[in-house]
Amino acid sequence: MKTIDVCLSPELIHLYDVSDKTVVVVDILRATSCMVTAFAHGVESIVPIADEEECERMKLQGYVISGERNGQKIPGFDKGNSPFEYMDEHINGLKIAFTTTNGTQAIEKSKGAKQILIGSFLNLSAISRYLLMSDDNILIVCAGWKGKINLEDSLFAGALVDKLRKHIEPDCDAPLVAQELYLAAKDDMLKFLSASSHVKRLNRLNIHKDISFCLTPDQYHVIPSLKKGELRLL
Ligand code: MLT
Repeated sequence: MKTIDVCLSPELIHLYDVSDKTVVVVDILRATSCMVTAFAHGVESIVPIADEEECERMKLQGYVISGERNGQKIPGFDKGNSPFEYMDEHINGLKIAFTTTNGTQAIEKSKGAKQILIGSFLNLSAISRYLLMSDDNILIVCAGWKGKINLEDSLFAGALVDKLRKHIEPDCDAPLVAQELYLAAKDDMLKFLSASSHVKRLNRLNIHKDISFCLTPDQYHVIPSLKKGELRLL
């Protein structure tokens, strides 16, 4: 039977051999939710970049530059990290270079995996259907916050484990922890997350509607996948 594991923080990724695995990178609030939304609205490609200056330089190569640090748009960048910025018709066909506090760092740290997919509640069922059909073992990499574990990415990991569990064997205890967390939270994830540090941070920044949107399952069917340093539709 195929296996599934959960890396609760990118700082733990050295514990896993990703070379034969499909890795699902998740940053629910809000990087991977933004990426999925952007592809659902016709973006051509997204280059995820860990470094802010490197991302800024991509402007010279004709990219739209998107960036956030500590929840706030980087001054001078074209776009920030709210999914609502990636929903209008002008998004269609754009090539975006994207840097965020944690999400793009987690993608960078996952390089070396056999395949990298971008997950969020917004494309939860699409991702789980794809993973069921694939032969690869699975690792969910939670972006967390600056190396620390966070609740919202762990909840997504639990939701995905819950969907796949009858067909896929947990490789360790982290999938079980995440699944239990999700089962405790699933009836009201917004309430469950009200004490989480990033929800509190976003609320302090008056960013409210992004939170409930990013927790809404199955808005889109797209699956972004990393190929040669660039995210494109699978
Ligand atoms: C991140 O990558 O850390 C985030 O998506 C932060 C945010 O803008 O909410």
